[in-house]
Amino acid sequence: MRVAVIGATGVVGGTILRVLEERSVPVDTLLAYASRERADGVTFRGASLPVAATTRERLLADRPDVAFFASSDDAGAELALALVDAGTTVIDNTSAFRLADGVPLVIPEVNPHAIQAGDRLFPVANCTAIVLCMALAPIERAIGLRAVHVATYQAVSGAGRAGLEALADEERGMAPNGTFAAPIFRNVVPQVGAFDGDGDTGEEQKVIAETRKMLGNPDLRIAATTVRVPVMRAHSEAVFFEIEEPSGVDELGAVLREAPGVVFHEHGIVTPRDVEDTDLVHVARLRPETGDETDTRFQMWVVGDQLRKGAATNAVQILELLIAQGRFVPA
Ligand SMILES: NC(=O)c1ccc[n+]([C@@H]2O[C@H](COP(=O)([O-])OP(=O)(O)OC[C@H]3O[C@@H](n4cnc5c(N)ncnc54)[C@H](OP(=O)(O)O)[C@@H]3O)[C@@H](O)[C@H]2O)c1
Repeated sequence: MRVAVIGATGVVGGTILRVLEERSVPVDTLLAYASRERADGVTFRGASLPVAATTRERLLADRPDVAFFASSDDAGAELALALVDAGTTVIDNTSAFRLADGVPLVIPEVNPHAIQAGDRLFPVANCTAIVLCMALAPIERAIGLRAVHVATYQAVSGAGRAGLEALADEERGMAPNGTFAAPIFRNVVPQVGAFDGDGDTGEEQKVIAETRKMLGNPDLRIAATTVRVPVMRAHSEAVFFEIEEPSGVDELGAVLREAPGVVFHEHGIVTPRDVEDTDLVHVARLRPETGDETDTRFQMWVVGDQLRKGAATNAVQILELLIAQGRFVPA
């Protein structure tokens, strides 16, 4: 299988390379691309690989079976469609196609059934929405959700290499460079993305719309406040949710304990540093809004590494699903 990674020098692209390696995905040829050429830009399976400049001509000539897009949001949309037309399966971490009609938005543990036989374009959802849906989907399936409110604590690596560098520079005493809406060192910034006319940010809109799509619940009442915090990696989320029928912590805890890809902590806390570079989403501090034994309103704390489960791992898991469906016949 010929696999292309566009944006291979970025934080998501680099993580895709590692996850492909770790999970022994049957890649025969790995083709790496970025905004510009480098002689030995990335490492895959212990070998240094050249990185090519991303051009339509080059990619179409290279004819990958699968192309992972992990480049800037505007760089890849047209190219992704050209590759799909040429027969390549595209797994796209940008936001370009996530809400397009007829395009599945898949978390393999949540909605693998959304994939149709002829699909060749697979957007990977927003990282905050993936972490959220991993915890909400089992509850939606078991009991049904009426409403969700989420406040997030998002790592700087969510803004890519530039985000990591901005925090490191500020820690060294350099002036903020505008990567974030306000200084990030010793601060929290309640703006991720640009504001729309209604006062939500782009990130908040993505979390709301993509969560509804992935849960298959277009009428779900959901509100989000997304906040950048000076954490290197892994997003945390304080989630308030209302369910269709009264339930208890034991019952909901049992649902979460059974959920694939989720670790439920009955006691104690979990922090972003605990889950760095891991694939599971952790749920802790599950409790009813009131002190009553059963309730329809609950709160929980959800943490997941957004570069792995929120992006690279989810993307590679989609490829694994397609391989399991017999999409790629070995040469
Ligand atoms: N970071 C996250 O937590 C996260 C999570 C989910 C989704 N995403 C999405 O994943 C994508 C990549 O994000 P990232 O965080 O990995 O960003 P990043 O660290 O800034 O990396 C961006 C990558 O895209 C390449 N690139 C930039 N412009 C390009 C162009 N015109 N053509 C081809 N390649 C180009 C860069 O190449 P050079 O090295 O040559 O500049 C680099 O390899 C974005 O769409 C982002 O929204 C990010």
